[in-house]
Amino acid sequence: MSEARALPDEGVSVENNPILQGNFAPVDEEITAFDLAVEGAIPAELNGALLRDGPNPIAPGPGHHWFMGDGMIHGISIGGGQARAYRNRWVRTPQVETLKGLPAGRISPNQPMQQGSGSVNVIGHGGRILALPEVGLPWELDGELNTIGQHDFNGALASNMTAHPKIDPETGELVFFGYDFGPISLRYHVADRDGNLVRTVEIEKPIPTMMHDFGVTASRVIFMDLPVAFDMEMALAGKGLPFRWRDDMPARLGLLPRAATSDEVQWIEIDPCFVYHPLNAYDDGDRIIFDVVRHERSFVGGQLEGGGEVRLERWTIDPARERVSTEIISNRAQEFPRVDPRVECRPHRYGYTVEFELQVGARGLIKHDLEARTEVHHDVGAAGAASEGVFVPVGGGEDEGYILSVVYDGGSGGSHLRIIDAQDFAAPPVAKIQLPARVPFGFHGNWIPAG
Ligand SMILES: [Fe+2]
Repeated sequence: MSEARALPDEGVSVENNPILQGNFAPVDEEITAFDLAVEGAIPAELNGALLRDGPNPIAPGPGHHWFMGDGMIHGISIGGGQARAYRNRWVRTPQVETLKGLPAGRISPNQPMQQGSGSVNVIGHGGRILALPEVGLPWELDGELNTIGQHDFNGALASNMTAHPKIDPETGELVFFGYDFGPISLRYHVADRDGNLVRTVEIEKPIPTMMHDFGVTASRVIFMDLPVAFDMEMALAGKGLPFRWRDDMPARLGLLPRAATSDEVQWIEIDPCFVYHPLNAYDDGDRIIFDVVRHERSFVGGQLEGGGEVRLERWTIDPARERVSTEIISNRAQEFPRVDPRVECRPHRYGYTVEFELQVGARGLIKHDLEARTEVHHDVGAAGAASEGVFVPVGGGEDEGYILSVVYDGGSGGSHLRIIDAQDFAAPPVAKIQLPARVPFGFHGNWIPAG
């Protein structure tokens, strides 16, 4: 019998859990409000809605982890130069029905082992809005953020789906994966532009690991099999998130042709680290450029602490020599990297990230010019904290458009949406939309164009 060891999060109470305080604290109401107050001028070209997803636990326990808990979607509708509406809605899972009495959406008969809360990301694809979990099936929402039900791609998906699929701007395909905890611990999938699942490849890996995101180029996908492994002892104890940093495990990148029909993954070993989010990936002749936010380690402690340095790096992958070379782009701690959606899976020049301090949540925004190797900062004030900047294209080329970011005002305790001209990034926002409710720190979002 193995020696008993202290599990992360032991001794944490609801009152001293930092992930339940300040703007990490959940809100307790669903709200609908119209004609929001605006400071500045909303660009007339913006017609659609910014949707954001994050955890909003109804009954969190003392060891509540930021990555757990019920999901809530926040939507801000914009059109004709007006901020038309704000809505926030729980993703209505059976747990939300039990705890809050709000009827759950349709449950798929294709139930994977885990039923996700849909709390990580929200996307538009194939005419559907999907709230995505880390594990479990996605949840389909209607245009007013009501939960329709679990989306299983007409019965074709019966396993977990990542919250970080990529939409190829040229083919319209939704390229994604799912990780699991059995012998088939990884699956690769492609849905066509209409949302039909057209490809699934099953991949065997020795140890199930946390695989939060991946890279996609025009020709390949890049899996990140990094040393944060599923921990059965923690899972059985039912506390926190059952993953643990492992010094005894290698870190590997796995390359698979997008057109593959069977497991032909080429694994290349790299220096141990953890990556939640790449900025983007693209083919560069025989090599692959993979820009990532690299964490020295992760899942060493109970929440996100103990992970060491965080920085933006460029990894150049040489598949023929099975080598990856590394170059530091920025040493500032940052996260939630995004590119203009028109250059996803294709060469990019610009990237947009959020300066990150865990104890206070995020701070300002950073714009990287990866050709000139410069960075520009967008300040949100000493008491402000920005969320992921979502790029909305307006005009013809990369970087022509606006960055939308929901910002927490530490002074007032409220939130606003700011619209930043990407090409005048350091300037004050062109518009600030005051939101009728605080938006807790969440994870990811996307712009859903009108019509
Ligand atoms: Fe993420």
